[in-house]
Amino acid sequence: MPKMIFIERDGTRREVDAPLGLSVLEIAHKHGIDIEGACEGSLACSTCHVIIEAEWYKRLNAASEDEEDMLDLAFGLTRTSRLGCQIVMTEQLDGLTVKLPAATRNMMNA
Ligand code: FES
Repeated sequence: MPKMIFIERDGTRREVDAPLGLSVLEIAHKHGIDIEGACEGSLACSTCHVIIEAEWYKRLNAASEDEEDMLDLAFGLTRTSRLGCQIVMTEQLDGLTVKLPAATRNMMNA
């Protein structure tokens, strides 16, 4: 089974099983990794924001326009930011490494 590595806010690297066909958000939830994903993958929030390691970023399919629009709202946006719910695990992504952003914008408290 492919693996994924999450780098948590305190810098801890966690390598986890990453079943094919699950999104990065679903994989995070499966392993108790703290990514919110308030809209459960329907591209209506930006709380699933993750920062992809540069070498992996290039290998991902390009973000859709809707994803780009949502990402613009993400707090702490970087050049390799993506929405975790839009990245689906494939064999080619075995070893994918993503970092949790320092904070997410919680629209409820904005
Ligand atoms: S979970 Fe809301 S956009 Fe990804």
